[in-house]
Amino acid sequence: MSTVILYGSRYGTSRRYAQALAERTGLPCYPAAQADRAEGCAELVYVGGLYAGGVCGLGRALRALAPDPARRYLIVTVGLADPHDAENIRNIRTALQARLPRPVLDNARLFHLRGGIDYSRLNFAHRTMMRLLYAAAKNQPPEQQNAETRAMIETYGKAVDFVDLATLAPIVQALAGQGDGEKPQV
Ligand SMILES: Cc1cc2nc3c(=O)[nH]c(=O)nc-3n(C[C@H](O)[C@H](O)[C@H](O)COP(=O)(O)O)c2cc1C
Repeated sequence: MSTVILYGSRYGTSRRYAQALAERTGLPCYPAAQADRAEGCAELVYVGGLYAGGVCGLGRALRALAPDPARRYLIVTVGLADPHDAENIRNIRTALQARLPRPVLDNARLFHLRGGIDYSRLNFAHRTMMRLLYAAAKNQPPEQQNAETRAMIETYGKAVDFVDLATLAPIVQALAGQGDGEKPQV
């Protein structure tokens, strides 16, 4: 079965995960801008950074490919918030369910990894967005903060790198047919 890895990454953390996954599996790996190179694949692994709940480049990459109802998808999100936090995972999945076409959701397994952020490298739009989000979040009482706002408050203005390539193991296993990610509840 032909499997291709695509990645959508603005600042490199998703790219590092995707390239490490390619090294571990021997699979071809391309940036989402070259999504046409995945045309005809039976299985697509998409690794993408989370930006305001969306997965960087995923929608456009899916639209670039001819629909294939038999294609399997492994969708790997890379975000700043703790991927072990149940509410965070619920929020990521709710957002994915609202955005992904039904045939993709029906054939998708989801995985969630932790990335990082370096404020000195953010572009103007991203820095502005984070400043506004931070201003709102820091006034929230702690009991109202979720994993996303907590991660933002703790890391605001800093450079942090939570990339852990060992967390690719369940995805490597799923690609070897030995395990599965979560099926979206749709
Ligand atoms: C404007 C902006 C919005 C973000 N939104 C989210 C988010 O909704 N959830 C999350 O967990 N992380 C969020 N992050 C953090 C990124 O997902 C994190 O930095 C990730 O590692 C970026 O991936 P990349 O380096 O591959 O671009 C956001 C970061 C920026 C700059």
